[in-house]
Amino acid sequence: MLRTHSAAELGKNILGSLVTLAGWVDRRRDHGGLIFIDLRDRSGVAQVVFNPEHSPTSHALAGDLRSEYVIQVMGEVALRPAGTENPKLPTGEIEVLVKDLKVLNTSETPPFYINEDVEVDENLRLVYRYMDMRRARLKRNIILRHALVRAIRNYFDERGFVDIETPILGKSTPEGARDYLVPSRVHAGKFYALPQSPQQMKQLLMVGGLERYYQIARCFRDEDTRADRQPEFTQLDVEMSFVTEEDVLSLTEELFTMLTQALRPDMRVITPFPRIPYREAMAKYGCDKPDLRFGMEIGDVTEIVADSDFAVFRQTVAAGGVVRGLALPGRADISRSELAELTGLAQSFGAKGLLSMALMGDGVLDHLNMEMVKSVAAKYLTLDQIKQISVHIGAKPGDLILLVADESAVACRVLGRLRGELGVKLGLADPRLFAYCFIVDFPLLAWSQELGRWEAVHHPFTSPVEEDISLLDSAPGQARSRAYDIVLNGYEAGGGSIRIHQADLQRKMFRLMGYTDDQINERFGHLLTAFSYGAPPHGGIALGIDRVAMLFAGEESIREVIAFPKNQQAMDMLFDAPAGVEPGQLKDLHIRPMDD
Ligand code: AMO
Repeated sequence: MLRTHSAAELGKNILGSLVTLAGWVDRRRDHGGLIFIDLRDRSGVAQVVFNPEHSPTSHALAGDLRSEYVIQVMGEVALRPAGTENPKLPTGEIEVLVKDLKVLNTSETPPFYINEDVEVDENLRLVYRYMDMRRARLKRNIILRHALVRAIRNYFDERGFVDIETPILGKSTPEGARDYLVPSRVHAGKFYALPQSPQQMKQLLMVGGLERYYQIARCFRDEDTRADRQPEFTQLDVEMSFVTEEDVLSLTEELFTMLTQALRPDMRVITPFPRIPYREAMAKYGCDKPDLRFGMEIGDVTEIVADSDFAVFRQTVAAGGVVRGLALPGRADISRSELAELTGLAQSFGAKGLLSMALMGDGVLDHLNMEMVKSVAAKYLTLDQIKQISVHIGAKPGDLILLVADESAVACRVLGRLRGELGVKLGLADPRLFAYCFIVDFPLLAWSQELGRWEAVHHPFTSPVEEDISLLDSAPGQARSRAYDIVLNGYEAGGGSIRIHQADLQRKMFRLMGYTDDQINERFGHLLTAFSYGAPPHGGIALGIDRVAMLFAGEESIREVIAFPKNQQAMDMLFDAPAGVEPGQLKDLHIRPMDD
């Protein structure tokens, strides 16, 4: 090694020792003849001092050092003179008095500050990702992700799971996104599909009798990139034979509880994780990934206002719509401009409008009178109706009620998004809580207006609830699935299900989803054949490693926990990919560019 110690290993316990360090010039200061360098390596920063009286050659050489030069120094660990200690640094009590300096490499002026936590344009950070990694934030996140994955591997290893790699070049497995295709050179006009997930492979491993599998698996989905979505991402993929929902959920709960304690001991976890039926989640939180760090539940007041004198409410209900709302605690005094902003926000989520009702006063609903209600709807409603609305929505004087009158799906979506946004913005989310929950009892199928056929809500391999199988013939939309999601702080951290393991039922599902028998045989024949050879009952789950790492790191984008992410346009800014290729390569792949 070119060093004897890392920066973080230096301390008062080795005063007087001769040490050799290697790293980067983080900061340089010249002080009355002395030159101070903060030497940075992966472990941290140590101050090294060049004194012309100790080593005139090193001191002279140190004058030329610039930010990000790579250096090796040999010197003696000494106490910093009294009054010059830096309590902010773990190595702040000591310094290294340099006897010898070697410049291992020079550096251009960095494209952004490495040693300061300043905002830098993200695309610039992505172009110079290797420089960004030298900064504290990304380095910390990458190392945290490593710790997360290591803890996961240990956990499954200890419980008898086998880590098995599955292919990247394969055949399309539908997970609801577009496939990335790879043209075959050997088989003209044929394509491999990159896996959207190892779903079919892990099921085949169960047919193969492996019983307990896990993998840290790369997945590829050609869909629009978002803060919590990348075209290429990582899952913890798990599958087990001879299990029920209970087994998968309790394993997942135990895993997340362990991970939180190990990596975020400052965060509180409430166990058992609540299990919320899909319908209840949609009604109370307006979405299937509720942020449970705060309450602010949605209430339905349709029946209360159905016969009211307020035309918007009456007409919406008469047309089959609903009136729902939520309360912003203590915000009765909201300004006009803030209210206009909220209305704009609701409209951007698809609402026609947002009705506000400010309840002035002291927190006691019994004290409410009409003078205390500020709303354009106030004169059309009775005090009793307003009190009933308040009770349903959990509002009290001092709060602001927001109501949406619309089709059920729209009201649900708008209020769900308002709730998600405002709960965090108003500081209602408990910052010390990791709020986990499971969403269960998803519907099996959803009718796609666009495609004119049923689509799997989870994926086509998910089993219906046993007693709902007969509904597949009569009312497919009412069949419940054996799927579940795990949600953390309003993000879907993972999802899975108990699978179909009978060929007949699987074939029926494919037919419901509009596949012809020929298509079924061509695309899924291998799976149906496998199921006909004694497939065991099985089920599993996949967790989004990037999302979990993001939440554990306290970041708002998964790009912050991926070493080399794509940008928002799905481009790799460092390599400049995707990129053109040589005409000869295309020819080999039997591809002719369209000339338009
Ligand atoms: P699903 O499609 O729900 O399930 O994916 C599982 C989890 O993977 C994460 N995830 C993503 N993360 C980043 N970028 C993306 N584009 C992306 N897409 C999904 C989410 C999600 O919860 N085969 C099933 C699992 C199973 O049934 O066992 C599957 O892939 O955190």
